[in-house]
Amino acid sequence: METGVFSPSWKRTVMCGLISEGHVGTKITVNGWVRKRRDLGGITFIELWDKSGVIQVVFNPEVCPEPHERARGLRSEFVIAVTGSIRVRPDGTSNDDMATGKWELMVDDFILLSAAAPLPFEIGEVTDGVDENLRLSYRYLDLRRDKMQRNLRIRHEVARYTREFLSDRGFCEVETPILTKSTPEGARDYLVPSRVNPGTFFALPQSPQIFKQLLMISGTDRYFQIAKCFRDEDLRADRQPEFTQVDIEMSFLTEEDIYEMMESYMVGLFKERLEVELETPFKRISYKEAMDRFGSDKPDLRIPFEITDLKDVFCDGGFKPFEELLSKGGYVRGVVLPGGTSLSRRLIEEICERGKALGAPEMAYFQFKDGGVKGPLAKFLSDDKFRQLGTVAGASEGDVLFVMGHGDWNLVCSVLGQIRLEIARAHGHVRDSWEFLWVNEFPLFEWDEEDNRWVAVHHPFTMPMVEDLPFLDSDPGSVRARAYDLVLNGNEVGGGSIRIHDSSVQNKVFKCLAFSEEQAKERFGFLLDALGYGTPPHGGIALGFDRLAMLLTGSQSIREVMAFPKTAKAQSLMCGAPAGVDVKQLDDLFIKALPLPTKS
Ligand code: AMO
Repeated sequence: METGVFSPSWKRTVMCGLISEGHVGTKITVNGWVRKRRDLGGITFIELWDKSGVIQVVFNPEVCPEPHERARGLRSEFVIAVTGSIRVRPDGTSNDDMATGKWELMVDDFILLSAAAPLPFEIGEVTDGVDENLRLSYRYLDLRRDKMQRNLRIRHEVARYTREFLSDRGFCEVETPILTKSTPEGARDYLVPSRVNPGTFFALPQSPQIFKQLLMISGTDRYFQIAKCFRDEDLRADRQPEFTQVDIEMSFLTEEDIYEMMESYMVGLFKERLEVELETPFKRISYKEAMDRFGSDKPDLRIPFEITDLKDVFCDGGFKPFEELLSKGGYVRGVVLPGGTSLSRRLIEEICERGKALGAPEMAYFQFKDGGVKGPLAKFLSDDKFRQLGTVAGASEGDVLFVMGHGDWNLVCSVLGQIRLEIARAHGHVRDSWEFLWVNEFPLFEWDEEDNRWVAVHHPFTMPMVEDLPFLDSDPGSVRARAYDLVLNGNEVGGGSIRIHDSSVQNKVFKCLAFSEEQAKERFGFLLDALGYGTPPHGGIALGFDRLAMLLTGSQSIREVMAFPKTAKAQSLMCGAPAGVDVKQLDDLFIKALPLPTKS
């Protein structure tokens, strides 16, 4: 079929999905993609799609014999321009599932604007069964679906809301460099070699962290940016090598200013996008409490049960290994699966096995059943102890309690935290609600076993809590940070801190991180210099923009809200990046590629 010329007379007068009662009896022109074609009783029907929706288009051989003849050559995803008149569909043929299902376009004429090759997958609404790699290889086709168009639109609306919200509060949007120097967010850098300065490299920013601090020193006072960040790290459903932050920094503030502002940002956003009224202030808990109660630094508060400390039950409970462990300062804790006794013993034991796979040496269980308690350790419990166990653990008839003991607090909390999540998800104990909370008082440092040194939990510019400052020299591991994460339904949607604005504290922190003076100068000398030229107290936060869009669209992965995401192997299947380059390009950069290691 020949293509026609897209002259002004073929330009659409209305978008497909916006056709309504008011168009009945009028002549219109629509432009779009052929979604489905059916030939019924000599009449050809197509669904014509554009990003606003679809309209049924009817080629009746008695009304338009020649266009009807040509229409028989139309296939899925051909692009056409059609003119005709809108009429109400005949009785019994309207489609309530379609926004325009009451009407149809009776064709006068059409032209083909472009043909389409046979498709690698059907462009329907359902992608189940279509391999995600195939979707990503032909992302432009995958995006030609209502759901993906809706996701892009919502993402755009969140960006628009963000700009308006922050602009109204005196924030100035500033772009910071992409070709820059290593920024310390804990991941590996993506490096870009410099041709004009042979042997040197730019690093792509892991975040605009240092620049936003410099902007505060420069007097900008309130900065924001919807910023691209780059991190070479292992990927998961909520992580991409290239992602977007709503990056914010303010001068002359305390944590309260950040909490208050981000809460009103979320209240407005959830009202606008989902018509949900969020309650403020959001809950706040310390990192220690989050780990103790939920075994995670990003607790999912939609799950109604928590980890409980069973020390008082087992310190003299008759079960020797736990008694000994507790007397040496160890931990015995548990998590209850409500109604768990309805599970078979095999399923309960599988949960214990899962605990072992996560790092527990053993995981015991207690079934609260038939007015008593059953399970491998039940024989060690007296009647009194059994009652105490139920009370302390919050377990009652019908529940199963999973218990773990170990000397490592972090291990006990995180294994039980993961079990809590998994059993809640598997057995329908996750409420349908929006649960925000702030987690704060994170440790400033954590010990890196591999490098045998302290590393910053957030980043090295985070202010220690004032009362912990004296421990910077004597006990760095006990120093808490003025850092906070914003958590939503178990997802870390943002993180930030109050920064160090005093170069002597900054130097001390660098010392704890085992940066020599020269190293600190080499890497961040410009920031240290700047701190000495009149620095206001400042702090900020960065929201994971993709994660926020993922949650607001009800998506399972941030890939669903990114136009062109990368795979778990950090590749773009569509454009074939990363790719090898010409030797000539490498020569220009004075770079020689080493042979790749052979796979064993
Ligand atoms: P942080 O490293 O906590 O802080 O990042 C802030 C938020 O960015 C999101 N995020 C990611 N999203 C997608 N893919 C990734 N690989 C990824 N990594 C992080 C998360 C996270 O909460 N400069 C500091 C902020 C500050 O201190 O103001 C920073 O980048 O939602």
